[in-house]
Amino acid sequence: MTSDEPAAPGGTVGKSEPPPFDTSVAHQARVYDYLLGGKDNYAADRAVAEATLKVNPDLAPSAHANRAFLGRVIRYLAGEAGIRQFLDIGTGIPTAGNTHQVAQEVAPESRVVYVDYDPIVLAHARALLTSSDAGATEYIDADLRDTQVILDQAAGLLDFTKPVAVTLISILHAIPDGDDPHAIVARLLGAVPSGSYLAISHMGADLMPARTLREMDEVWKRGSQQQYTPRRRDQVERFFDGTRLVAPGLVRVEEWHPEPAAGAARKTIMWSAVGRKP
Ligand SMILES: C[S@@+](CC[C@H](N)C(=O)[O-])C[C@H]1O[C@@H](n2cnc3c(N)ncnc32)[C@H](O)[C@@H]1O
Repeated sequence: MTSDEPAAPGGTVGKSEPPPFDTSVAHQARVYDYLLGGKDNYAADRAVAEATLKVNPDLAPSAHANRAFLGRVIRYLAGEAGIRQFLDIGTGIPTAGNTHQVAQEVAPESRVVYVDYDPIVLAHARALLTSSDAGATEYIDADLRDTQVILDQAAGLLDFTKPVAVTLISILHAIPDGDDPHAIVARLLGAVPSGSYLAISHMGADLMPARTLREMDEVWKRGSQQQYTPRRRDQVERFFDGTRLVAPGLVRVEEWHPEPAAGAARKTIMWSAVGRKP
């Protein structure tokens, strides 16, 4: 599909086919940017974000809590877990606290490979390539479903004989069941050695009333490039098959290693966990 062919609203993006740079339909990266208070979004993104917020006001606090979760996870992985290699798939538009900044603050020698398939993220990729001198960053323009392409290209920077943290933060709900997201995650886990980590956050189907789910789905069908599949707790837990969950296990994003000073957070619609490959 070329950029002058408008995508059918509600159409899904085919395997290996990047979403076109079409500003008339909402893109996940830009909607998320809007929810976080960013400026890299268009009227169609804002319209879908606002329509979704109308049926589910928890979406905006969930986006903020998800971003904060990402920061805490990377700090944990680079700190306590001693990880020095990161494969961050579903990077999003660069904002405050990108993975390499958080990791390199803890361990300047950290190497980070970013992956996203959205043209606007690619357009901003330079902001992700500002590595510390001791470390390195790389950006791969690829679709998560093309797992082997990602692994082959990431091997240019990452040493797959040493532990790698694979982070899939708020991306897997954009992969429909038909594309077998569990098999995709299993392939990624199969490519990393013992001592590697997997971190996931995922929209929870059982964290919202059925009616809200239906109404959100209607909004996305009308105007979003990506269609989303929120999943239940047990379905999210299954992504971690072959790993041991780090305490406290699978919890809402705001409950995963909360900052000691954080008060009682508003409940989000996002499941999260971190697993270690034994
Ligand atoms: C909600 S953003 C999350 C950004 C960041 N991980 C965070 O949590 O702050 C999800 C990102 O995943 C990307 N994405 C969605 N489906 C993808 C796919 N099949 N392949 C690669 N990237 C994808 C979108 O373009 C978007 O930038």
